[in-house]
Amino acid sequence: MPGFVNIGPLHQVREGCGALVHCAGLDIALFKREGSFFAINNVCAHQHFSMLHKGRLEGFRVTCPMHGWTYDLRTGKATTGEGSVASYPVRIEGENLFIELPGDTV
Ligand code: FES
Repeated sequence: MPGFVNIGPLHQVREGCGALVHCAGLDIALFKREGSFFAINNVCAHQHFSMLHKGRLEGFRVTCPMHGWTYDLRTGKATTGEGSVASYPVRIEGENLFIELPGDTV
């Protein structure tokens, strides 16, 4: 899987909850929703707190616990507030999760 990086076991992410992993100098928030995994940059576009993994989930939307900006897990686009956070394709291989990072990151 060229471009994909192993970020650890599937079980670190529970349905409906966020998890934080550090990979290639990035803070990445992982989520499991309706059986699918999502990875977005953990750093909110508002005031750059690295807290999205602690956000409340409603459907495919996560709310930053700091001031309430919200993001779509599937795209990283803000649904309340402005801008976006990076989203990363996720794959499962065996019992591990892999994410694809931009070429200049790895
Ligand atoms: S830092 Fe996330 S909403 Fe302000």
